[in-house]
Amino acid sequence: MCKWTTLISACVVILAALEASFRTWLPSHFVFEKEVLQQLVQETLVHHPDGNATAIMIDLAPRIKERYPGIINDLNFDDWVYNNAGGAMGTMFILHASISEYLIFFGTAVGTEGHTGVHYADDYFTILSGYQMASKPESLVPEVYYPGDQHHLVRGEVKQYSMPSEAFALELAQGWIPAMLPFGFVSVVCLTLDPYSFYRTAYFTAKDMLQNLMKGKL
Ligand SMILES: *[C@@H]1O[C@H](CO)[C@@H](O)[C@H](O)[C@H]1NC(C)=O
Repeated sequence: MCKWTTLISACVVILAALEASFRTWLPSHFVFEKEVLQQLVQETLVHHPDGNATAIMIDLAPRIKERYPGIINDLNFDDWVYNNAGGAMGTMFILHASISEYLIFFGTAVGTEGHTGVHYADDYFTILSGYQMASKPESLVPEVYYPGDQHHLVRGEVKQYSMPSEAFALELAQGWIPAMLPFGFVSVVCLTLDPYSFYRTAYFTAKDMLQNLMKGKL
């Protein structure tokens, strides 16, 4: 018979294993460097003083691909998917998804606001166009991030955030990526009931994770 003490012990052991791996084994599988990505963004922005997000992404994606060959998807405007999570809604394109990292373009043409989510990953959000505002519960004035700035959301920390219309960013997450996915999926089940967007998100994420796993990229 399964006693509640057994259940709690199992949870503690699993969390301890996740935490230990996060401090040792998992980071050895990280390929992307937050400093390099921010530098690529800043180099690209120099050529786009008008802040045209489309042109910035078309210019930036090949630079990232050149720096990290073999693991970056070609940017195309057919494979963008809606992302609903934490009450915020945006659109994203997956440049890379694996078990320990993802790299996406994320943003919104109309603007959005919501909860960042509690994640078992560090998140580096480098602004391409527009801006992002964020705040902790005790903050009465927002943090504001402009093009070229990088907002580091530390693993486990939460904030409220917003982006105005036509704000886009390059987002890198490093950690236990599958543990982040329920945050988005629960919105589909309990809020949006949008099976087509869910299917596309699951399809593109799973496809990329498997392809990268077969290349030996955890
Ligand atoms: C932004 O850039 C895209 C791609 O180069 C171009 O098609 C579009 O016309 C530009 N938009 C504006 C407002 O200049």
